[in-house]
Amino acid sequence: MKGVVLAGGTGTRLYPVTLIVNKHFLPIYNKPMIYYPLSLIMLLKLRDVLLIVNPDDKKDFERLFGDGTKLGISIKYQIQEKPNGLAEGLVLAEEFIGDDNVCYMLGDNVFFGHNLVKILEEAKKDVEENGGAYVFGYSVKEPERFGVVEFDESGNVISIEEKPKNPKSNYAVVGMYFYDNEAVEIAKRVEPSDRGELEITSVNEEYLRRGRLKVKLLGRGFAWFDAGTHESFLEAGEFVATIEKKTGLMIGCIEEIAYRNGWIDREQLLELAKPLAKTDYGKYLIELAEGED
Ligand code: DAU
Repeated sequence: MKGVVLAGGTGTRLYPVTLIVNKHFLPIYNKPMIYYPLSLIMLLKLRDVLLIVNPDDKKDFERLFGDGTKLGISIKYQIQEKPNGLAEGLVLAEEFIGDDNVCYMLGDNVFFGHNLVKILEEAKKDVEENGGAYVFGYSVKEPERFGVVEFDESGNVISIEEKPKNPKSNYAVVGMYFYDNEAVEIAKRVEPSDRGELEITSVNEEYLRRGRLKVKLLGRGFAWFDAGTHESFLEAGEFVATIEKKTGLMIGCIEEIAYRNGWIDREQLLELAKPLAKTDYGKYLIELAEGED
């Protein structure tokens, strides 16, 4: 399975903050937003990653991650000329995905929860073994801001709609999707929605029509933030700060994951920590490198 992270878009809902800086570089507490979705891909042990980026931002992403070698992964970049919508990313990733399956992540989504990785591993395995699409629902107060999934009494999915005016449930579809290889061809046939975007929801709707869509609900034990508005951006940062201070463990620390996965060694970890040494982040990495013999 390949990993694709969407990190383009205009970030208009974070203006004026994002007038001149791409939102994925903004800090969710102590690390850039893009670290969070990337860390999940790494936790799933996916080492082949494509970042979909705006033309103006490619250089900065390369400055941040290079080709991924320093994290023991491969990162490639694909330019999206215009923010035409999330489904377009699948089409742009066609060559990269090849005949593989894909874990498709939105660059502004932050997740936290007990057994989260186990649940994602199950989704990954399911798509690898049985094909189809696997997405997740999460109960929210303002479902009209998201893709919304509706269930019947037996828990079967009956509809999935993008930003409905009258949501049929409170379950938002979160920005983490597992697809088989069909997704690329499905995405190619998506027509622009009323708001003029190629919606990822249209891809999910097609899987639903084919009877190939699985939706798992993430319950109360999970936290999910779409950090794309001022309010949710702040909430996500406060949440991460609270958890990290309480537990002494980091959320979304890509260097730690690379090290624990055995993709980089102690020396490489210390090398990554060096420029960060004045911060708690850097100290955390140094302690990690020195702590385990
Ligand atoms: O966060 C979950 C929601 O994400 C889902 O519930 C919705 O179904 C889905 O459409 C999406 O809705 P948003 O309106 O929140 O998407 P947004 O425009 O914020 O874009 C999501 C990410 O994708 C963000 O990191 C920017 C990036 N992006 C966006 C567009 C439109 C791209 O890379 N290219 C694009 O063309």
